[in-house]
Amino acid sequence: MTKAIPTFQYIVPASQPTPGKHLQKTFTRGLAPFAFNGARPSRWGSRNLYTSASTGVHCEPYIASQGRNQQLNLVHTRRFACATDSPTMEYKMIGPEHCAQVIEHLRHNFFADEPLNKAAGLCQNGSSCAALEDHCAEAIQDRMSVMAVDVKDAGTYKIAGVVLNGILKPNDTAKALEKLDSSGDAHFRKIFEMLHKHNLKHNLFEHFDVQSMFDVRILSVDSSYRGQGIANELVKRSVAVARKNGFRLMKADATGIFSQKIFRSNGFEVFSEQPYCKYTDENGKVILPVEAPHIKMQLLYKAICGDDQDDKVPNH
Ligand code: ACO
Repeated sequence: MTKAIPTFQYIVPASQPTPGKHLQKTFTRGLAPFAFNGARPSRWGSRNLYTSASTGVHCEPYIASQGRNQQLNLVHTRRFACATDSPTMEYKMIGPEHCAQVIEHLRHNFFADEPLNKAAGLCQNGSSCAALEDHCAEAIQDRMSVMAVDVKDAGTYKIAGVVLNGILKPNDTAKALEKLDSSGDAHFRKIFEMLHKHNLKHNLFEHFDVQSMFDVRILSVDSSYRGQGIANELVKRSVAVARKNGFRLMKADATGIFSQKIFRSNGFEVFSEQPYCKYTDENGKVILPVEAPHIKMQLLYKAICGDDQDDKVPNH
């Protein structure tokens, strides 16, 4: 049985440099009696695990600045169930024939939930967004995408998650940025202007001297299947697809702390970052006010060697 993974947040005033006691108080009062495993507050940023003495549930701290305060987010990291071992869960390559079904999944799970879409107010859960749908359909055409499907009776299935991967060539991002000018969707423009500009400034093609890249564009898991390792498995399988197709380099723009963690645990490394609070307009107003615990976009890459062993990073 799957349980949702809860995320807890606690605001630490900047005036309190050692708020450990306050935390403990909050957790003992509001939730199960928590005891922290002695990690010192000064090391909160370095991923100490806080462990509940009573339940053994791990919490991982993430710190985000919020004006003069720091926001400490404790996130349960224990997996409650593992869908990757489920006998009904299968992983399949996505073909153009699956496009409509994949888009329907994204309308209900990615369009409204992804941190930047949410910040821009791109669309309501279940509604369509033509510009983003075109972007997704384009990736599907490259036939490198993978889906997790929960197989029901009589061969029917439900899409539990998808990873949409595309092939990226050196001029594609500049062209996409140019094309954005003619997009009538101001929210879509806001999001992709930031992503494209960042990628042009931090140019992986030049740095690694490659002529094509395997671009992990969309990672989405149905909300009722989250926390079971599906996204992790989709990224792992994408690495296998990239390797099989002879790519030397993979990249992803990871917009939230969970996707960032998933990519890193699959051997991706951070190439550059865009803190959301520093992406502002000419009046200093934050353009994409992304909600905590997400604080920055990370451009991640993974270099791929011929064998299945460790992938060494060329010249970085
Ligand atoms: N709270 C705490 N931990 C989490 C959460 C969460 N909400 N989501 C993922 N994690 C952690 C897991 O604990 C796990 O860590 P572990 O390996 O140490 O146990 C790790 O992240 C992998 O988790 P999965 O179960 O594989 O992730 P899941 O299948 O739940 O999917 C995803 C994660 C894709 C981010 C999902 O929440 C989602 O679809 N969100 C909305 C869309 C989105 O934000 N997509 C990513 C944007 S970036 C891009 O598309 C390239």
